[in-house]
Amino acid sequence: MYRSEVPRPFLKWAGGKTQLLPALTACVPERFNAYHEPFLGGGALYFALYRQGKISRAFLSDVNEELIHAYTMVRDHVEAVLAHLKEYPHNEDFYYSLRKKDPATMTAAERAARLIYLNKTCYNGLYRVNRQGRFNVPFGRYKTPRYYDPVNLRAVAQALRNARIEAASFEVVLKNARAGDLVYFDPPYIPVSKTASFTAYTRHGFSMEAQQNLRDVTAELAARGAYVMLSNSHAPATFRIFSHPDFHVYEVYAGRAINSRGHRRGKIKEVIITNFPIAAGKAPLQPVCSKVQ
Ligand SMILES: C[S@@+](CC[C@H](N)C(=O)[O-])C[C@H]1O[C@@H](n2cnc3c(N)ncnc32)[C@H](O)[C@@H]1O
Repeated sequence: MYRSEVPRPFLKWAGGKTQLLPALTACVPERFNAYHEPFLGGGALYFALYRQGKISRAFLSDVNEELIHAYTMVRDHVEAVLAHLKEYPHNEDFYYSLRKKDPATMTAAERAARLIYLNKTCYNGLYRVNRQGRFNVPFGRYKTPRYYDPVNLRAVAQALRNARIEAASFEVVLKNARAGDLVYFDPPYIPVSKTASFTAYTRHGFSMEAQQNLRDVTAELAARGAYVMLSNSHAPATFRIFSHPDFHVYEVYAGRAINSRGHRRGKIKEVIITNFPIAAGKAPLQPVCSKVQ
């Protein structure tokens, strides 16, 4: 992806899918009706498909209320959000003073600007909250973070105009998705080892029961005739939980963007699960989407 391409994600998100975009965009069906992304995060696939002109209507949701508030404000009041971002200086004192503020006491536009600013200037771009639900990441050492990016943010606002945006757990998709729609699930991943777990996007975490529930929701959508695509880790539990006669499981290599241990950065095997077959050689990466089951 070239930096000049807009709209692109306006937040850096743990588990962001930018690295996997060539594979994911090549895997989606040629045609579908509405698009649903119930673990929205930075929305990398949504914006990529929008740039390709593939999105007509969309239902976007995430359980993280601060995140969804920011999306809604960017869609409905982008100029008010930009006005705040334009005034914010890039320095450590300002960062900590903004981090300390309680979002509940701020205006709606300030609250959205606060999330964008902290996200773009914090250490490693890692959104993390403590047990009280407060953002607790230290100041990052970026020279020129692009928290004020009017060209992209206005393009994002335009891209969200036909999107219904909701703060809700992923099951909400059952209320909205119909036959012929495309649903992309990008849940917090099943840990590949006991120490590799990263589930602190919200204070709630994402349990194995939640993964099983997600499998059931996926199966129900498939039975309804929706196209379903799901990303997860290449872990034994993924194969166990998501094994289902109607699902296809593909392997894909991803260069991870965020990893707290620098030496572990690099290519990691992940899986893409679909309820429709992907033709051999369709995806451009090597080796992408080889069927393993
Ligand atoms: C792997 S990230 C999604 C990354 C996104 N695809 C991107 O490109 O940035 C997972 C997201 O799931 C959200 N989440 C966690 N539990 C959830 C739940 N029960 N329902 C909906 N979203 C949830 C988190 O807030 C987080 O934004």
